[in-house]
Amino acid sequence: MNNQDIVNEIRRKTDIVDIIGEKIPLEKRGKNYFGVCPFHDDTNPSMSVSREKQIYTCFSCHATGNVFTFLMNYEHKEFNQVISDLASRLGIALNGFKPRKISTKYDDWYNIYDLANKFYQNNLMSKEGLPAREYLKQRSIDEEIIKEFEIGYSLGERSSLTTLLTKKGYSLDLLNKIGLTTNDYDIYHNRLMFPLHDLSGKVIGFSGRIINNSKQNKYLNTKETELFKKGRLLYHYHIAKETARVSKSIIIMEGFMDIIRASTIGVKNTVATMGTALTSDHIKDIRRLSNNIILCFDGDDAGVKATLSAGEDFTKENIEVKVIELTDGDDPDTYILKNGKEAFLSLINNAIYFSDFKIKVLSNNYNFLSSEDKANYIHDVLEETVKIKDSIRVEIILKDLAKKFEIGYNTLEKSFQELKNAKTEKLVDEILSPVKTASKEKKDKYQKASLSIIYYMLNNPLVIDKVERENLVFPTEALRALYCEIVYFYHKYGFINEADFYTYLTDKRELINLLNEVLVLDLKPDINDEELYDYVKVIREYNLTNAIKRLETKIKETTDQTLQIKYAEEIRKLRIGEK
Ligand code: GTP
Ligand code: MN
Repeated sequence: MNNQDIVNEIRRKTDIVDIIGEKIPLEKRGKNYFGVCPFHDDTNPSMSVSREKQIYTCFSCHATGNVFTFLMNYEHKEFNQVISDLASRLGIALNGFKPRKISTKYDDWYNIYDLANKFYQNNLMSKEGLPAREYLKQRSIDEEIIKEFEIGYSLGERSSLTTLLTKKGYSLDLLNKIGLTTNDYDIYHNRLMFPLHDLSGKVIGFSGRIINNSKQNKYLNTKETELFKKGRLLYHYHIAKETARVSKSIIIMEGFMDIIRASTIGVKNTVATMGTALTSDHIKDIRRLSNNIILCFDGDDAGVKATLSAGEDFTKENIEVKVIELTDGDDPDTYILKNGKEAFLSLINNAIYFSDFKIKVLSNNYNFLSSEDKANYIHDVLEETVKIKDSIRVEIILKDLAKKFEIGYNTLEKSFQELKNAKTEKLVDEILSPVKTASKEKKDKYQKASLSIIYYMLNNPLVIDKVERENLVFPTEALRALYCEIVYFYHKYGFINEADFYTYLTDKRELINLLNEVLVLDLKPDINDEELYDYVKVIREYNLTNAIKRLETKIKETTDQTLQIKYAEEIRKLRIGEK
């Protein structure tokens, strides 16, 4: 049997209801079974499992797939592992099954970074690594932490790493390209080496720290590559994504050393940027880990500035973060060294809201002997307060302010309301801007028509025949690819169903994503010819409009009159064909 046969046989001999039912309680309602979806935070039974179709679908988070994708996602296993688990459970021999390895052009990169990482770690423990070990000892970094963070050391020689890697068959071109060498020689010399991991935990670069007071830059990072982007990477994220769930918070710090020190006292729900400001990608990745985000930056002016800027960035995304303030001269690393675990844990527990922090910092900018300054300060505080959603906190702040400046609470409350109303009106105006909605509607219409046609093709082979006869061209490349796969599968196997087709697509991620969109459509089970041709028409019209638009642009872009006439003629023909 070949791979596809084996996979098909396993799929046919397994019942998705049994498999999912072993993991989460399912309850039968009508034809389908329902349970609490394990793929998002929920308490309602929003996942439905269909015995007939052998697929599951969550109406809330839109997770969907067949028995294989369920097990892959639920047990965090690779496809091959799931296949072999199920085969041994069913007593199916896997002879002839060649594990599918999804190879990418980056396989070599990952292998090289792994080798370099091991090499640096070995160096640290070698004779040459002594100065680095001394340095770490003097900073109270013990062996356990060295192992945990895979800290290494780069040697003084010109090309120790380069030699190792070229001997393994990797080209100098590649080594230069991925940032481990420059002009054919090692980049890193006599530096402590910290591997940088991507979000999933693969090494994609390094940061090297000097161990003496030389005039060189303190840290030297791998240059940006296709895999390593500073604006994307968060140090320690691959660990934090596990620990943040348990700790129910995520702490953002400034430096590697802060993260490493916090880990020594068991605080592992931490991330740091590469010494840069937070980007919107960082923010997206961080908010995925927890709603309780705490900033813990250095206790100096730069740290306060960074806190203000990061806090504002999160506020723009409608998230109010919390802030831990350290006293001047400390960073999390030195604070923990001086004061220990309990003191730091209590700082975490007593973190204040960003708005409270900002109001406090703002007061430093004003001279309260001047009435003008006082009024400006009060106005600034109101601006901040408008952003707070919790009305109890709003009242507390307004009362404090009233007391502090001996102003009537009602006066403050009135100014507060005026400001708030003005902000709301502006927001509504932005949302209602007509341009955006119009084009979106059109796009939604052809997208829906395309997805619906695909849905019915998967449910009824007769629809495949009809659509094929129409010579319909789907408007996007992904849709065309999915269409071709369906037609191919159907002609090859003589049947089609969602579960088997899913399996067939396993390593085509983009198509799976598109298929997920199709499978969550809430459509009636059958379609008649008239409805089908209505969908076809929507797509044809969309294609036509686009073709005409393209020709119109061409006419505008050229000064050649013969060409202009030719394009105009094409447009005319398209328009006639339309009728
Ligand atoms: P220690 O000084 O060893 O305590 O390290 P630290 O991690 O606490 O560094 P620091 O607080 O001085 O800086 C915060 C972060 O900024 C570092 O973790 C680096 O990511 C980055 N950074 C600091 N210095 C440099 C530098 O010279 N070059 C680059 N590229 N980044 C730096
Ligand atoms: Mn530091």
